[in-house]
Amino acid sequence: MSVGTSQSTAGVFSNTRTVTVPKLVLPDVLKPNTRLKMDGLEFLSAIPADAVPVAFFDPQYRGVLEKLAYGNEGKVRGKRRSALQQMPEEAIANFIRGIDRTLIPSGHLFLWVDKFHLCQGIHPWLDGTRLDIVDLLTWNKGTFGMGYRTRRRGEYCIVLQKQPRKAKGVWKIHNIPDVIQEQVSQRDHPHSKPIDIQGQLMAAVSHEGDFVIDPAAGSFSVLQAARNHGRTFLGCDLNG
Ligand SMILES: C[S@@+](CC[C@H](N)C(=O)[O-])C[C@H]1O[C@@H](n2cnc3c(N)ncnc32)[C@H](O)[C@@H]1O
Repeated sequence: MSVGTSQSTAGVFSNTRTVTVPKLVLPDVLKPNTRLKMDGLEFLSAIPADAVPVAFFDPQYRGVLEKLAYGNEGKVRGKRRSALQQMPEEAIANFIRGIDRTLIPSGHLFLWVDKFHLCQGIHPWLDGTRLDIVDLLTWNKGTFGMGYRTRRRGEYCIVLQKQPRKAKGVWKIHNIPDVIQEQVSQRDHPHSKPIDIQGQLMAAVSHEGDFVIDPAAGSFSVLQAARNHGRTFLGCDLNG
């Protein structure tokens, strides 16, 4: 049998999801489908362990601004970006450890990173977690960003899965390309992420009604994506 035929792939992945999620009992402070204004680490610690199938995390990382002084911090778009609470590396690792705790076995974390972090590697953030890197998407923003050499147009979504790592019976949509183009308005937030692709990703690894969390939600693009796909959103931002 030749590799790549439908027969040969049939045993590797499926269009059905057999994972079941335990009923989640939330403390009063965590209201689903709202823009909670709170600290993300506090938020994560209020969620029971092994409870949610999907998380998104888009850190407000400091690293790139420290390494690359483009001279626009505090000006125009840089002004809005600098005004946001930055996350030191240790805080990012704590967020990821918190997410790892809340995910069900074989649950997914979609982690947004830029070119700098993709090249440097994110393994220090994964220390002590049960998260494996299983895939990567490249988002072509269609904008003309900064850069001393080439100008940035891409951002990256690293797909992590809590052990045990498997696709069959877990990931049920198989036509999502790993390079995506989606125009996003950054009127509401300087780091807004694409709603459609986040919706497709959450739909691939959850059932309708399942919880999707985002502990640093910014413009709450994940809330909008969850609404579009009938998922239950739970998330916060320091700025609400
Ligand atoms: C990169 S942005 C997220 C953008 C978001 N993915 C979107 O699509 O709009 C990161 C966000 O983290 C928030 N933030 C920083 N520290 C935080 C903390 N300790 N708890 C919660 N949110 C925090 C910032 O206010 C910022 O809005």
